[in-house]
Amino acid sequence: MKFVCMSSEIKPGEAKRVEVDGRAPLAVFNLDGKFFVTDDTCTHGDASLCDGEIDGDVVECPYHQGAFEIATGKPAGAPCTIPLRTYATQVTEGQVFARLDGEDGNADRQA
Ligand code: FES
Repeated sequence: MKFVCMSSEIKPGEAKRVEVDGRAPLAVFNLDGKFFVTDDTCTHGDASLCDGEIDGDVVECPYHQGAFEIATGKPAGAPCTIPLRTYATQVTEGQVFARLDGEDGNADRQA
């Protein structure tokens, strides 16, 4: 898994945009101490979901108020119909890790 950020960087109910290895930005969400990593860019347009509103377990896009379930990436409000990508997430000793594309599990957990 890939190191994404420190859990202390994100307060409960907030999100942070993180760029890792030059790939498209990720959004790291803290929902009451549980962490989730998704793509940051809305699947409907070029909006950063980290700039949106978090309402319970849903994030609302700042552009057209579409919404996604943060844990699953499922569209939760029009006009979003394409699921948001989500990544397996793990927190170890205050560090947030995510399994990004092309990784074979824990190859670089020591990063
Ligand atoms: S860009 Fe996100 S709902 Fe349109």
